[in-house]
Amino acid sequence: MAASMRLLVRQLARLSHRKVTSTVSGVSCRSACCWRTSSGRCFSDAAEDRSTHFGFETVSEAEKAKRVYKVFENVAQKYDVMNDAMSLGIHRLWKDVLLHVMHPQPGARLLDVAGGTGDIAVRFLDYVRYQLERQKRRDTPSGQGSSWQDISDDRRRESSAVVCDINKEMLKMGKQKADRMGVVSGLSWVVGDAEELPFDDDQFDIYTIAFGIRNVTRMDQALQEALRVLKPGGRFMCLEFSKVTNPVLARLYDAYSFQVIPVLGEVIAGDWKSYQYLVESIRKFPNQQEFKGMMEDAGFYCVQHHDLTGGVVALHSGFKL
Ligand SMILES: C[S@@+](CC[C@H](N)C(=O)[O-])C[C@H]1O[C@@H](n2cnc3c(N)ncnc32)[C@H](O)[C@@H]1O
Repeated sequence: MAASMRLLVRQLARLSHRKVTSTVSGVSCRSACCWRTSSGRCFSDAAEDRSTHFGFETVSEAEKAKRVYKVFENVAQKYDVMNDAMSLGIHRLWKDVLLHVMHPQPGARLLDVAGGTGDIAVRFLDYVRYQLERQKRRDTPSGQGSSWQDISDDRRRESSAVVCDINKEMLKMGKQKADRMGVVSGLSWVVGDAEELPFDDDQFDIYTIAFGIRNVTRMDQALQEALRVLKPGGRFMCLEFSKVTNPVLARLYDAYSFQVIPVLGEVIAGDWKSYQYLVESIRKFPNQQEFKGMMEDAGFYCVQHHDLTGGVVALHSGFKL
């Protein structure tokens, strides 16, 4: 009884959300009581009134979105270097774990939201290409060339990845990096807001968001959007900083975060404040259980989470049924 009530509430919430988005779409600024920022983002007057947090500060929702945009605009050029410096390269392992758990197969379509400089999308395309090569080697007896059937099968099994991010500067840096790496085919870059994705319903097999969701103003809305654009059976995966469970590690981690990271930000990127915000935003993010509950409330099933590096990062996953 309680479970069916919960489901009903979720569906009503989804319907009311849909009504708002579909009513507003199609008109350039989407509604009469809505205005657009320099980042191209649209806000209603209500967003000016509702408060949220920007790091440890309380600000209006509209103000948070503006400030988050500015943070990533400022750090875009040094984003990848800083990621390596701050995490001592460990962010690469966390991203590899995400791909390993995802284990995507050729033909899969990925949407990487808040995808920034494209680390997840590039890893995804590498992974599926490797899988395709393995399958081809297994299916083709040695010495035999490709038939027309093989070629058309390859086409069918081509994967694609869309990197979607609200920040044009982050995408620009990502595209330049991918071009340098020679990763072009199957990869596209779209400016878009996690809370109002510019995609039709039921489009993607996998939705990822890595170190992005804590920057989104209305996480519940972003989760609803993730559910909407996933195909039935599709998987949502979120990599995000979380709560360290071991008290000794937690103290060391706190000291490192507050005393070292802003200094690195100043030295490498000339920007103390942005990195101060990044550290504070991590502390404001819901813990593993709370985020699991938010995913379930949004309508995801089989929600699970795994801690990485003692809970410094958590990987949450759930399915759209
Ligand atoms: C910490 S970076 C993560 C980038 C990348 N996913 C990674 O793992 O390296 C956070 C990204 O979230 C993006 N972002 C913040 N708010 C967003 C929103 N509402 N919609 C889409 N992207 C957003 C920022 O522009 C930024 O590129």
